[in-house]
Amino acid sequence: MSLLASQLQTDVTPQQLRRYAQLVYQKIGVTISEQKTTLLSNRLRRRLRATGLKCYDDYYELLCRTSTADAEWEAFLQEVTTHETFLFRDKTHWDWIHGVFLPELMAQVRAGKRRPTLRVWSAACSTGDEATSVACCAADKLSPLANWKVEIVGTDVGCGAVAAAQRGEFSERAVRLVPESMRKRFFEHAPGSPIWSSKPVLRDMLRFTTHNLLEPSREAPFDLVLLKNVLIYFDAASKKKVLDQVRRVIRPGGVLITGAAEGVSELVRDLETTHGWLHRIPTTTKTGVKS
Ligand SMILES: C[S@@+](CC[C@H](N)C(=O)[O-])C[C@H]1O[C@@H](n2cnc3c(N)ncnc32)[C@H](O)[C@@H]1O
Repeated sequence: MSLLASQLQTDVTPQQLRRYAQLVYQKIGVTISEQKTTLLSNRLRRRLRATGLKCYDDYYELLCRTSTADAEWEAFLQEVTTHETFLFRDKTHWDWIHGVFLPELMAQVRAGKRRPTLRVWSAACSTGDEATSVACCAADKLSPLANWKVEIVGTDVGCGAVAAAQRGEFSERAVRLVPESMRKRFFEHAPGSPIWSSKPVLRDMLRFTTHNLLEPSREAPFDLVLLKNVLIYFDAASKKKVLDQVRRVIRPGGVLITGAAEGVSELVRDLETTHGWLHRIPTTTKTGVKS
């Protein structure tokens, strides 16, 4: 055994694990289940080796000092959070965005009721698949696209996920549900390559950046926000905190889409909710004034 290895604290104590779980909860709102504590201790052991720190308390102090946008947090969270995502996940959501939401916007533009602008936020976007799916729908539906100003912002707490989103590269598995016609028009794919790269027509609409959902967003109002498959890892208090922040940046009449089983029904009672996942912000303010 090397000198360094012999000096390492080998086993993380249950008390230390609890402190780490509390830290994750405080910083990003995610609750670590009992089953995940083994993953957490494996990850901690590896991070202790990688950072050269000698004990779990030193590594804890390091995490307390750094921002969640830091690469060390990304490395630490890798096995605690899940980044599972793929394009056109939940077909009914995309049928609605493509077949109802975008045509509604176009009709409003034609009637002179709004300008041809669209702002979308894919919150907790992981590697950008969801934001890129919105870009596909916009590129396919908004006509002529050149007249529209479309901005799709994807954010995630994980800087590695955001860097992957910025590359705009997707695996065969990730693009398997993209309608054939969109896949051909909006992605480049070298014969035999397992990678599908988004074309500039999509990239020009997309912007990716790190953001922690527990913190307020400083972005201008959005017409549509997707907040999917992330609140399932949050307890009631964190869900409320996140939804309060997110709702503030949706314009009156705008839409919030959550996952179907996110457990948010109590928190969106005042919104017009359909199918359990589609929530519309009222167009009137508390004073009854139409905005
Ligand atoms: C399962 S993925 C969901 C991706 C995408 N929304 C979808 O439905 O396909 C969950 C993502 O939430 C992110 N996440 C977890 N806590 C977060 C927080 N406090 N702020 C922002 N993102 C967070 C994780 O990094 C992960 O990429």
